[in-house]
Amino acid sequence: MAQNWTPSSWRDKPIQQVPEYPDLAAVAATEERLAKYPPLVFAGEARRLKTALANVAEGNGFLLQGGDCAESFAEHGADTIRDFFRAFLQMAVVLTFGAQQPVVKVGRIAGQFAKPRSSPMEKQGDMALPSYRGDIINGIEFTEDARIPNPERQIMAYRQSAATLNLLRAFAMGGYANLENVHQWMLGFVKDSPQAERYRKLADRISETMDFMKAVGITSENNSSLRETDFFTSHEALLLGYEQALTRVDSTSGDWYATSGHMIWIGDRTRQPDHAHVEYCRGIKNPIGLKCGPSLTGDGLLELIDLLNPANEAGRLTLICRFGHDKVAENLPRLIRAVEREGKKVVWSCDPMHGNTITLNNYKTRPFERILSEVESFFQIHRAEGTHPGGIHIEMTGNDVTECTGGARALSGDDLADRYHTHCDPRLNADQALELAFLLAERMKGGRDEKRMVVNG
Ligand code: PEP
Ligand code: CO
Repeated sequence: MAQNWTPSSWRDKPIQQVPEYPDLAAVAATEERLAKYPPLVFAGEARRLKTALANVAEGNGFLLQGGDCAESFAEHGADTIRDFFRAFLQMAVVLTFGAQQPVVKVGRIAGQFAKPRSSPMEKQGDMALPSYRGDIINGIEFTEDARIPNPERQIMAYRQSAATLNLLRAFAMGGYANLENVHQWMLGFVKDSPQAERYRKLADRISETMDFMKAVGITSENNSSLRETDFFTSHEALLLGYEQALTRVDSTSGDWYATSGHMIWIGDRTRQPDHAHVEYCRGIKNPIGLKCGPSLTGDGLLELIDLLNPANEAGRLTLICRFGHDKVAENLPRLIRAVEREGKKVVWSCDPMHGNTITLNNYKTRPFERILSEVESFFQIHRAEGTHPGGIHIEMTGNDVTECTGGARALSGDDLADRYHTHCDPRLNADQALELAFLLAERMKGGRDEKRMVVNG
C-alpha cells in the first residue's frame, strides 16, 4: 500500500478548486451518509479495466474515452443515456474495424459532475457571482441562490450516477450491444446524416462476417463476446470529500479503491505533485488518468509518474494530452522522450478538445478542423517517436446539438445558437463524433499498412 496514505490524507495538503460551502457541518453529515451507501462499482471491474489498459500500454488496443464535459441533473433521462451509448458504440465499431485491435470503452459518465473553473467568480453585466462548479456542487442559473454550494447535491449526483450506471450495464450486457444489432444502432440516428451511408456500408460488412461465423457455428447465443460488451465509467476526481466517502477496501485484495467510477483522472489545474488531488489518487488502486497540458515539463511528468505509479505497472496510468492543435508539436515530443528514456509504462491518449476552445458569437466553441488537426499531429508524432498512439478522450453527446463548429455539415458560428445545451464545454454531436471515428480509423489503417511495409520490407 502507498506509504503514509489514508483515504483522508489529502486533507493535510494544499488544495485547488474548492467550493466555499457555507455550512461545513452539513457537508460532513452528507459525507457520512455517502460513506454508508453502496459502492457504485466493484474493485474487480476496475482491475479488469486496468488489465485492458495494460494491453493498450503494450501497443495492443485503443482507448475510446468520451462523454459530457459535465453531466447535468436537467438532462438525466433514458433517451439521453441511450443516444450517448449508441453513438459511442458506433464509434467503437468503426475504430475496431480501423485498428483491427480491441477498443477499450470508457465513458465520461455516471459521475462526471464536478468542474474546475478558471475563475472563482463569474461576471454578467455589473453582477458577480460564484462560478458554476457542476451540478454536484451548485446550480447553473445565474442567481445568488443557485450559486451557493449545497451538499445535498452530492446525494443527488450519487443517485443519478447509480441510475445511469444501471441502464448502461443493462445496455452493455442485456442485448442492446449485441453485434447483430449493428444496423439497428443506425435507426433513430439523424436520417440525412452525412455519415449514414458510410456507416451502413461498414455495418453490412460486419453482418456479412456474422453470417459467415453463424454458418460455421459461432453465434451470439453461444459466444458472449458477440452479445455483450465491456463498458466502463470515468470522471475527474475533483470533489475529494465525495471521493473519500466512496473509497472502500476491496475485501479480495485488501486494497483501497475509488468506487465512484472505474477510472478517475486528475485535471490539468489540480496536478501539483504536493497537493491534495495527487495525494488522494496515489493511494487508490483504480486505473487513473492524468491530464497533461502545455505547462507540464518532462521532469514534472516523471515526478508525477513516480508518485502515481511507483511500481511502473502497465494500465495504471493514462496520460491524457491536451495541448491545442498549434501546441502539440512543440510539447508532446519532450514528454514522450522523457517517458521512453525512463522506460515508464503508460497509455498515451489524446484529448483534442480542451486546448482548442475559442469564443465565437459569445459561445464557447471548438472548430472541428482544429480537433482533427490535434489528433492527426498526435498520431504523426507517435509514429515518428516509435510509440503507440493509444487512445482519444473527447467531449461528445448522442444528441443533435450545435456546440462545435465544422464537420461534414459545416456548422457555422451562426448555427451555435440553435441547440447549444452543454452545461460546460462544447461537445461533438453524434454526427461529428462518428465522423471523427471514421477519420481516425483511416489513420489507424494507414499505420497498420506502414507497419506491414516495414515488416515485409
Ligand atoms: C475536462 O476534462 O472537462 C477538463 C476540465 O479538462 P482539463 O483538466 O484538461 O482542462
Ligand atoms: Co471539459
